[in-house]
Amino acid sequence: MSHGPATPLTAHASGPLTGEAHVPGDKSISHRSLILGAMAVGETRVTGLLEGQDVLDTGKAMQAFGATIRQDGDTWVINGVGVGGLMEPEDVIDCGNSGTGVRLLMGAAATHGFAVTYTGDASLRKRPMARVTDPLALFGAVAHGRSKGRLPMTIVGAADPVPARYATPVASAQIKSAVLLAGLNAPGETVVIEREATRDHSERMLRGFGAEIETRDTSEGREITLVGHPELKPQVIAVPRDPSSAAFPVCAALITPGSDVLVPNIGLNPTRAGLFETLRDMGADLTYENAREEGGEPVADLRARFSPDMRGIEVPPARAASMIDEYPVLSVVAANATGTTIMRGVAELRVKECDRIDAMATGLRACGVTVRDGDDWWEVDGRGPGGIEGGATVAVHLDHRIAMSFLCAGFAAKRAITVDDAGPIATSFPIFRPLMEDLGAEFRAEDA
Ligand code: S3P
Repeated sequence: MSHGPATPLTAHASGPLTGEAHVPGDKSISHRSLILGAMAVGETRVTGLLEGQDVLDTGKAMQAFGATIRQDGDTWVINGVGVGGLMEPEDVIDCGNSGTGVRLLMGAAATHGFAVTYTGDASLRKRPMARVTDPLALFGAVAHGRSKGRLPMTIVGAADPVPARYATPVASAQIKSAVLLAGLNAPGETVVIEREATRDHSERMLRGFGAEIETRDTSEGREITLVGHPELKPQVIAVPRDPSSAAFPVCAALITPGSDVLVPNIGLNPTRAGLFETLRDMGADLTYENAREEGGEPVADLRARFSPDMRGIEVPPARAASMIDEYPVLSVVAANATGTTIMRGVAELRVKECDRIDAMATGLRACGVTVRDGDDWWEVDGRGPGGIEGGATVAVHLDHRIAMSFLCAGFAAKRAITVDDAGPIATSFPIFRPLMEDLGAEFRAEDA
């Protein structure tokens, strides 16, 4: 995405927040629907796709690789080229702000015998790519990037790939998925071993598309085995709503006096639902209503009510992967709780769209909150309900989740909070502002 001039936005003390919040489709599942749809033979139809910039950039990339993608009303229709059928793009693939997009695409194309050059925005160009190109080298792909494995980067795909066996050194669904997607066009069995379980949407969807893929727990961790050269069959996919987007209206309701918000149809895959468990452990009035199963994924309606009695806790580090994108907004809830919230085992937060520990710690401190942090941990001292002072402008560093977290903080702070740029919110939650306004939140756009 080429991001225009910064658009500051201010959130004021608001509320109560009430009503229903229909958040957009799941970002992770949306990316995978487009990529796997493009690698199947025939027509895949997707409803509920997140039409955020990250996903649109992945869609453009799949078109550049030869797939046909069009919109038919609410349905996205993808005509795929089949496993091994991706074509050499004529131009650089620009993944905008999306780490998921670029890393999954690198995997999918790495076992095709042509070169692809990838780039992205200023945030993505700072993020580590060797974590993906190292395992892709095992298939025979060769990467030429900037120093420290940064974008722009050209990957010369393997014309005659061999399958790989790879134990991921960090808990990352992006690395796992890149390897599995590369394995599709390699002969024999590709194996990924992860010490801690990460989101398993790729495995579920590959199985749904007809690939032979098995997961088993071993002493080394979770071992996933994919048999190469499947014929992927086109699917009809209903994308569930995104728990990572639901986190914002849920957390805003928990900290804003008088609130009672229903967030319907949220995917509660256990590899994604860690935040909601953590909030309940803190004493949040958060309930799952109408729990059911849809398209192989657990789904429920979330009801969040103002919770003035939340306590700080030590978040179990084993839960980190299942809530990795939710720590920024959790830290806002923690600031409104009583006592200290301790978050350990979260070094990955330092290499997301920005250094999320640093961005949140700096912004929270500017709003009067005490935060301590180290390489892979941070702690937030709660100031009790409504205790954030606010009255500050915070930098979001091209990171949608930092922007939304501080805007939610502003609804319950003593003085307004301004984010220096609300533009990045469009990557994952383009309707964030009107959705929150419908619930009763108050914003004011600032002159740039
Ligand atoms: C994602 C995986 C996570 C997450 C990202 C989406 C995915 O990254 O932070 O927003 O769709 O696979 P890591 O797997 O690298 O932790």
